[in-house]
Amino acid sequence: MQKPGHLDISRRDLMVGTAAASVALGTLPATAKAQTAKNSESLVASTSVQFTVNGAAHHLELDNRTSLLDALREHLHLTGTKKGCDHGQCGACTVMVDGRRINSCLTLAIMHEGDEITTIEGLGTPEDLHPMQAAFVKHDGFQCGYCTPGQICSSVAVLAEIRAGIPSHVTTDLTAPTEVSDVEIRERMSGNICRCGAYPNIIEAINEVAGRPA
Ligand code: FES
Ligand code: FES
Repeated sequence: MQKPGHLDISRRDLMVGTAAASVALGTLPATAKAQTAKNSESLVASTSVQFTVNGAAHHLELDNRTSLLDALREHLHLTGTKKGCDHGQCGACTVMVDGRRINSCLTLAIMHEGDEITTIEGLGTPEDLHPMQAAFVKHDGFQCGYCTPGQICSSVAVLAEIRAGIPSHVTTDLTAPTEVSDVEIRERMSGNICRCGAYPNIIEAINEVAGRPA
């Protein structure tokens, strides 16, 4: 059986222990802060990357977290590519990478070492429009124009996909050559949102470039 004195000592020990723990707890935030700072340092590491944009070679030193969209807009000042949602949901940031369309907000710039990137600025010029740009103008395929660069890049890629025989979710016969149709265009362009609702005119423009009668 323990003597009462022993219990007193235990209580004192407990109080000393509690005080020591309080001191330790007081220092914990500082330790945590140091760890957080260390983690942040590793997060802001930068990497050098080289790629081609609209035929011009670029060598950039980028924060690893930089999206391709931000590299184009903020570092190369190619502001034709638009930031709509920044979450892969609107298609305003569509560009072509090695001939395939991609949402540039969903990919890190440093993942594109050696790639060939085409933005709306690389498709045509005001004096010499790409046929898809000319068709969008002719058919009023836009209103505010914010989604238009992404719509045009996507449209060009859609026709290339169909001509290459790549089926979509709505292709009914996988053994027959894929053909341009309103249904195929709508399905393949469904990732490009237009808040102004210019969809019918966009379809007309794509059909014209595809050589389909209106
Ligand atoms: Fe990239 Fe909307 S900004 S999908
Ligand atoms: Fe305005 Fe498409 S033209 S969002």
